[in-house]
Amino acid sequence: MPRLLPIITLGHPTLQQRSKEVANIDSAPIQKLIDDMIYTMYEKDGIGLAAPQINQPHRITVLVPDPEKPQRYKEKKDKALVLINPTILKHSLLKGPSEEGCLSVPGIFGIVKRWKTVEIGYYDRDGVQKKLKASNLLAKCIQHEIDHLDGILFVQKSEKLFRFTRNM
Ligand code: CO
Repeated sequence: MPRLLPIITLGHPTLQQRSKEVANIDSAPIQKLIDDMIYTMYEKDGIGLAAPQINQPHRITVLVPDPEKPQRYKEKKDKALVLINPTILKHSLLKGPSEEGCLSVPGIFGIVKRWKTVEIGYYDRDGVQKKLKASNLLAKCIQHEIDHLDGILFVQKSEKLFRFTRNM
């Protein structure tokens, strides 16, 4: 059974470190970590989660495949996009504003500039090398998650930050 993992928050040193490339994708601890990350992301109503957020400094992130329709995937918790050792291969010339929050920065959201489209290379959880072109919200999420793997939080890039005054 997958486990709900505790999420570390702003101020924890692991969130500021560059996470390490994963060499042993097929190992049992890495596969278990991926299952637990997917479970934790959906339980916490996130649309993305990076391994350093659960204090595991590996270059692994899980995302909702279509973050504009998260409910469609919530019933099937095995449906997640798993990116291992992701890198941005190409991106659009233009950036656009992205309204972001983060499970590691509760109560705060902000506007960050992100490339409108990205093409990434990564390994899936079976160790297969893949490419993906993303735009809209998925492209923004991927950039937010890759930043986590590089030790960067959205609040460090944001031009405008807002605090939630009540639960929305
Ligand atoms: Co985040």
